[in-house]
Amino acid sequence: MSNDELLIIVGTETGNAEALADDAKIFANKVNLNAKVMDMDDVSVEEISNSKYLLICCSTWGEGDQPTNAEDLYEETCNAANDCMNGVNFAVLALGDTSYEFFCESGKQWDVVMEEKGGTRIQSRIDCDVDYEDDDECEEWIKQTVDIFNSLE
Ligand SMILES: Cc1cc2nc3c(=O)[nH]c(=O)nc-3n(C[C@H](O)[C@H](O)[C@H](O)COP(=O)(O)O)c2cc1C
Repeated sequence: MSNDELLIIVGTETGNAEALADDAKIFANKVNLNAKVMDMDDVSVEEISNSKYLLICCSTWGEGDQPTNAEDLYEETCNAANDCMNGVNFAVLALGDTSYEFFCESGKQWDVVMEEKGGTRIQSRIDCDVDYEDDDECEEWIKQTVDIFNSLE
């Protein structure tokens, strides 16, 4: 994988995060930025640490838990070397439901750990509630974030 590609990694149980990741890939392609969507189960810490542009799309399950397919990668990232995400420009799209006590907790955890490990946040995290499709906020965020990635050298 070219390191100038946008790597979009997905933590999901029922596919909502994946659908938004696919949208992000479409927007990226429209602005001539190559993008690749990968399930968190199929990607290693090494791969994400070597990516220059990283978009994390992740829902929250249980009571503030990572989706099953995100658990291992999240744990491995937490245990990885402190500076392993140096040079990684990242943004987090979190999905959740405000009726739960730990709203969008998994996305928040990714946002924190990526910065702790040396990554550069290029856009504030968006926390999407269940009605995220009712207005354009989420879609606008995706477009804007892709544009920011695309403007980086
Ligand atoms: C059993 C269950 C537990 C959930 N737990 C949480 C939670 O703790 N915090 C939260 O913000 N959302 C929670 N949600 C909401 C999901 O994150 C939300 O529906 C999301 O859009 C699912 O995205 P996905 O299809 O990508 O997994 C939960 C949903 C279900 C069905």
